[in-house]
Amino acid sequence: MPLNIRKVLVCDAVDKSCVELLEQHGIKVTYKLKLPVEELCQEVKNFDAAIVRSDTKITAEVLAAGSGSLKVVGRAGAGVDNIDVPAATAQNVVVLNTPGGNSISACELTCILIGSLARPVVPAGQSMKEGRWDRKLYAGTELYGKTLAVLGLGRIGREVAIRMKTWGMRIIGYDPITTEAEAQAAGIEKMTLEEIWPLADYITVHTPLIPATRNLISTETLAKCKQGVKVVNVARGGIIDEQAVLDGLESGKVAGAAFDVYPEEPPKSAVTKALISHPKVVATPHLGASTSEAQVRVAVEVAEQFIALNGTSPKYTS
Ligand code: NAD
Ligand code: MLT
Repeated sequence: MPLNIRKVLVCDAVDKSCVELLEQHGIKVTYKLKLPVEELCQEVKNFDAAIVRSDTKITAEVLAAGSGSLKVVGRAGAGVDNIDVPAATAQNVVVLNTPGGNSISACELTCILIGSLARPVVPAGQSMKEGRWDRKLYAGTELYGKTLAVLGLGRIGREVAIRMKTWGMRIIGYDPITTEAEAQAAGIEKMTLEEIWPLADYITVHTPLIPATRNLISTETLAKCKQGVKVVNVARGGIIDEQAVLDGLESGKVAGAAFDVYPEEPPKSAVTKALISHPKVVATPHLGASTSEAQVRVAVEVAEQFIALNGTSPKYTS
């Protein structure tokens, strides 16, 4: 049965193409960004649907406040970590997301971070800005011939594998669901985690954050890795245990790490801050999906799904 979505509250900075498409289909859109939770609870009472990216948390409290009016929450992004899905389901609120719309962007950032761990472009660039010319300090290593372990062989993991293979890396990977044939098609040798740890020069994680993947990279698993292993997390904070990486960087077990995501965003904990400040760490502020192309894609995808829920097909006027 069509949902009859007429009024949508956009809570985070979603590309204007979303608004344009919704309005072309008779849906009124109101932008109210970064609302404090009390105001958000008041506002949701006046809307059929809300659209968020990462900043706004749609908690059980917000959903309860919107009870009777709110029918849909749309996430212009892949994960739905900032939406209380069980609470929404209990209230018959549809939760939708746009998996895939930002995969290539997240994949490309991952590849760039892997490269930045091999060649210290970030500190070298900074040294130039500070007026230094220090060629010896910033020598690196080749990626060619090194082994990259990809943990999580879904949309992003496989795209990373395909690209890094073309750089001459050996790609090994683990995923409990992806088949051997699917892995092979992306140039990945599928293995068990126990087989992977001692072989990897680089490990990149591309799983959701679920109980089975929390601290997938930990003191225990790092102990099984090569001396000087490098790790990358463009998936979700918490999949790599930050304290374990800090300890590993100090002992030399870990030679470098790159993070785009953190257990708390923006980061507040002393451990995350120490990690970000470490000279062998490259840190970005959750930029995986932050490209113009990905933002247009997820914005259009979320709007198209709203229009479909109204029982119509999207029509494009421009
Ligand atoms: P996906 O669902 O396509 O792939 C995830 C894969 O992880 C699946 O193949 C699944 O079988 C696998 N998996 C599940 N449990 C596992 C386990 N215990 N060990 C190994 N693999 C396991 O997801 P995706 O679109 O590729 O996204 C991957 C991650 O990247 C998600 O956490 C997503 O939220 C995150 N992401 C981050 C950004 C960013 O801006 N940094 C952007 C997009 C997506
Ligand atoms: C996602 O879940 O899509 C990413 O983390 C990117 C984002 O939050 O925009």
